[in-house]
Amino acid sequence: MTLQAPKGTFDWLPPRSERALAVREALTEPARRAGYGYIETPVFEDTALFVRGVGESTDIVSKEMYTFEDKGGRSITLRPEGTASVVRAVLQHGLHNGQLPVKLWYSGSQFRYERAQKGRYRHFWQVGAEALGSEDPALDAELILLAVDGYAALGLTGVRLLINTLGDKECRPVYRAALQDFLRGLDLDEPTRQRIEINPLRVLDDKRPEVQAQLAGAPLVVDHLCEACKAYHEEVRSLLTASGVAYTDDPRLVRGLDYYTRTTFEFVHDGLGSQSAVGGGGRYDGLSEMLGGPALPSVGWALGVDRTVMAMEAEGLFGDESAEARVRVYGVPLGTEARRRMFLLVTELRRAGLSADMSFGGKGVKGAMKGAGRSGADYAVILGDRDIAEGTAQVKDLADGDQSAVPLAEIVTMLKERLDK
Ligand code: HAM
Repeated sequence: MTLQAPKGTFDWLPPRSERALAVREALTEPARRAGYGYIETPVFEDTALFVRGVGESTDIVSKEMYTFEDKGGRSITLRPEGTASVVRAVLQHGLHNGQLPVKLWYSGSQFRYERAQKGRYRHFWQVGAEALGSEDPALDAELILLAVDGYAALGLTGVRLLINTLGDKECRPVYRAALQDFLRGLDLDEPTRQRIEINPLRVLDDKRPEVQAQLAGAPLVVDHLCEACKAYHEEVRSLLTASGVAYTDDPRLVRGLDYYTRTTFEFVHDGLGSQSAVGGGGRYDGLSEMLGGPALPSVGWALGVDRTVMAMEAEGLFGDESAEARVRVYGVPLGTEARRRMFLLVTELRRAGLSADMSFGGKGVKGAMKGAGRSGADYAVILGDRDIAEGTAQVKDLADGDQSAVPLAEIVTMLKERLDK
């Protein structure tokens, strides 16, 4: 058997791969327009970064990391997410010593050893945006708007925004204790009981119906917020409303990473089945300190490229893809000398800004014309020995079949004129 891609991974192949490129581009454009600069961090980091940043008790760190020892004996992990790396890079290079907030966007592969299923992969692609060093509800609202605008630019209408707040270091411990008190009184299995002690908020996210049924009366963080968190959250919501963004308050929204404080949000799409989150993010005011840096209140998101493509497919937003990867001109050389000349002509066409391809491998006229048809080109340029002798080539309009001899020296100008219209 030939080798297969590892479980939980898949290949993006043309023409569908164009969809992934278009999604990356469209989802990051609003951030670029809002002054976010591009950052690229390594695909692997020291394991300690994620253990400290994402949190030891999270599923990501405790179960899902691709961790290995390198040849120098260091513990290395393939990144499961981008935020910890961005904060590490900002601190390492002192970007936070300049103007704040530091605004950055990124795009790249992430790795999580998850139970593979539709929409949940072990290798997936995220685009992200992070604004570091400001505590300002307008920044939370800005980021949410940038994501909303990105989805809208793609034509998606079925993305819903859920928002919540998780409180801060003042009010969260009080809430945490109240929640623990409540959870300890429930009928839960041993691993879940342990989770109550380590990470009680995660219990709220337990999907099992028998657990959910018992959680109906669980205390909610909104009822335990301090005045500052309450006011902050009200301002974020009011800015969203003023900007015409629809959202749903979800007091039970708990994210799978430990660094969140205050604002948290998720974008969900109902056409995806159980893996409905197409993006998520929130504020992480304590992460810099967790990584040994100064206080650097920050907020950001990551949007899943794979799931966004799937959401668009569910909404039927892609048309004829052959149109996306096609070339405008296709060369059909017949004979050895013609192949040389065609190679140069196609090069010239490309340099003149036209997309062009040609038949390779010495195919006969039938095979080469089939290639021209498949390429989706508007024109085929056919070159045989007789044409060469006469200094011309046959230019064939593939839509209506019209064909005429054109002097070789005029082909580029003529095709440019016809195709640039
Ligand atoms: P996250 O919610 O873990 O957040 O991931 C963000 C998005 O990545 C998800 O909503 C989903 O679309 C996509 N995603 C996550 N896991 C998978 C998977 N296994 N397969 C396919 N897609 C997946 C974060 O990663 C945070 N770093 C977001 C953030 C940035 N918070 C603040 N700044």
